[in-house]
Amino acid sequence: MFKSIISLALFTGAALAQGILFGSPAEGASVAAGSDLIVQLEKPNSLSSSVEVAVVIGIESCSNQPCPAPTDMMGQLLYNGPYNPVAHEPQLPHYQNISVTIPASLAKGTAQLNILHVNLIGAGPIPNLQILNRTITIT
Ligand SMILES: *[C@@H]1O[C@H](CO)[C@@H](O)[C@H](O)[C@H]1NC(C)=O
Ligand SMILES: *[C@@H]1O[C@H](CO)[C@@H](O)[C@H](O)[C@H]1NC(C)=O
Repeated sequence: MFKSIISLALFTGAALAQGILFGSPAEGASVAAGSDLIVQLEKPNSLSSSVEVAVVIGIESCSNQPCPAPTDMMGQLLYNGPYNPVAHEPQLPHYQNISVTIPASLAKGTAQLNILHVNLIGAGPIPNLQILNRTITIT
């Protein structure tokens, strides 16, 4: 029991250390329906090795109801493909800009961008899933 708590803690630590972050859009950013949006996904520098697998980006309107949990609903898929963060500006962590098109039919108002990130961590390697969300405003 005690041992499994320790390994869970270690696993969670490793997973967090390999977690990616939104560089942009900012929380609450406004984006016009039908326009292109750059989703910047940053990978913080980390000591343990990880191999990237893929990223999926979805968007779900929540103008009429509370935003659903991204673990239940990814929404309309805008991107499903490789994630290759590399060094750009020296002051920023490695990142990749992924350009997506906001559906022209998406309702104006609050919407939620959902990210599913898959990678492999460490020597195992440990399969790792990460889910992120960001709330934006469709204009
Ligand atoms: C959405 O992201 C925020 C951080 O930006 C987090 O606190 C929250 O738990 C996430 N919501 C869900 C349902 O995962
Ligand atoms: C990534 O997108 C941001 C704007 O969101 C831009 O400032 C930056 O120059 C872009 N980086 C690259 C490498 O294209």
